[in-house]
Amino acid sequence: MIVEEFITKSYPKTIEEGKVAWESPSNIALVKYWGKKEHQIPANPSISFTLSKCKTITVLEFSEKENKTDFSFDVFLNNEKKDDFKPKIETFFKRVEAYLPFLKNYHFVIKTENTFPHSSGIASSASGMSALALCLTSVDRMLSKNHEHLNKSFFNKKASFLARLGSGSACRSIEGSLVTWGTHEAFAESSDLYGVKYPFEVHENFKNYHDTILLVDKGEKQVSSTVGHGLMHNHPFAEERFKQAHKNLNDLIAVFKSGDLDAFIKIVESEALTLHAMMMTSMPYFILMKPNTLQVINKIWAYREKTDSKVCFTLDAGANVHMLYPENEAKNINQFINNELVEHCQNGQYINDKIGLGAKLL
Ligand code: PMV
Repeated sequence: MIVEEFITKSYPKTIEEGKVAWESPSNIALVKYWGKKEHQIPANPSISFTLSKCKTITVLEFSEKENKTDFSFDVFLNNEKKDDFKPKIETFFKRVEAYLPFLKNYHFVIKTENTFPHSSGIASSASGMSALALCLTSVDRMLSKNHEHLNKSFFNKKASFLARLGSGSACRSIEGSLVTWGTHEAFAESSDLYGVKYPFEVHENFKNYHDTILLVDKGEKQVSSTVGHGLMHNHPFAEERFKQAHKNLNDLIAVFKSGDLDAFIKIVESEALTLHAMMMTSMPYFILMKPNTLQVINKIWAYREKTDSKVCFTLDAGANVHMLYPENEAKNINQFINNELVEHCQNGQYINDKIGLGAKLL
């Protein structure tokens, strides 16, 4: 599958060496992407809040090389050489080579760091792959001066398209603060190939929405997301699940417009539990929640019951809990976390984040 629109035909310029740096955030899905087709095409549309504090900072140095037949690069995480990251990047380079024909002309030094601990159980693939895709799109633009690559909207589209080929959800990290990915009839511009900014009205209630990530379990992932997505093939409930994602995304349009937080909570929590229900009912099956995940969820429900709080939870493919709440509750929720929830976090750790505006060129 080759998408003509994103192929750079030729480069009018030559550059011997250079350097570019981007920071790119993580994102948290409200309607979950779970299940994919060939070429990283999602089985259903999704939508996410772009985060602001949890991000990857990547510096890409490139220098022209003699031998132009192979990829050549070194990767560093926090200034430490990471050869174990190379296979994933090599696979990514192979997938995007058709769109970035300069890739074999240069040796690259990729220096990357995350603002969150690597072993925190927070997936760094969305922020990491989007930061790398943005750096490479910048090189593409430097070499292509004076044509459509100068256009910001095309640049973001191409970066999102490339990020998707690295890790699906990474395509939702380029812009903020709400991004959809996957074709959906209510969104004329939506695409399976890249993320697009949410185009409709968003109520004040969602401005500066908070996401506190409770680090319940920092262990290695029990199931990689590639394997996880694969389990949706021939899953007995797959078709109904994909239909439900379309409906939930559609229903969110009215919720974002009206600011109805009760309706928001119902959709978001149901999505999180459905994602885990899919894992629990696939073959093989998995339970990625831990006892502390359930403790936290029950305490969030009890807290909502006894106060008029609009806090809710969501989960990704792991045990950590994302607590989502409006800005005006930040103080109370912080107290609630310190009084009742830190005891369920490994080493009492959690990360206070909120929705953000997307990636930044440094
Ligand atoms: O981008 P991937 O392949 O790691 O998949 C991410 C899947 C979820 O985080 C579980 C859901 C989502 O939409 O982000």
